[in-house]
Amino acid sequence: MLLKIVTIGDERLSQKSTDVESVNDEIRTLVKNMFDTMYAANGIGLAGVQVGVMKRLFVIDVPGKIGSTKIAMINPVIKEMSAEKELGEEGCLSLPGTCGEVLRSKRITVEYTDLKGKRKTLKATGLLAVCIQHEYDHLDGITFVDRLDPNERNVKIRESKKYMKQNGF
Ligand code: NI
Repeated sequence: MLLKIVTIGDERLSQKSTDVESVNDEIRTLVKNMFDTMYAANGIGLAGVQVGVMKRLFVIDVPGKIGSTKIAMINPVIKEMSAEKELGEEGCLSLPGTCGEVLRSKRITVEYTDLKGKRKTLKATGLLAVCIQHEYDHLDGITFVDRLDPNERNVKIRESKKYMKQNGF
């Protein structure tokens, strides 16, 4: 089932999500619907808040050199972030029609609960590391434009709102 994506201007995008209490069928159905919604919108990541569920979880499917990494992360915690950072272009399904250059750690270690309720650890680099940091930010009420300078942030938000108006969002 496709879910409605929350877009910029909705105050939920700047609110913190709370922990998932148990990984049950309701969560597994939500995750399936989030994957469907993300693929339908041609995204590589989608957080709960972006479909109006203020819970700490996100789904990602990131292309890489040896195939794609498709994971649902529940109650993720970023345990390590490299001091070494890199600028990279990011977009967001909640800000259609715009993108921006964001500085992110090159390497991270993240702990999360999987769909069976098991705690896992993942080390990530490259686009996967960027995507996890981007989605993790959503759980804390941060969108990528909040990491740009304030003028650029406003320009990008205006650009996205204009795009949505013109494209019938
Ligand atoms: Ni996003």
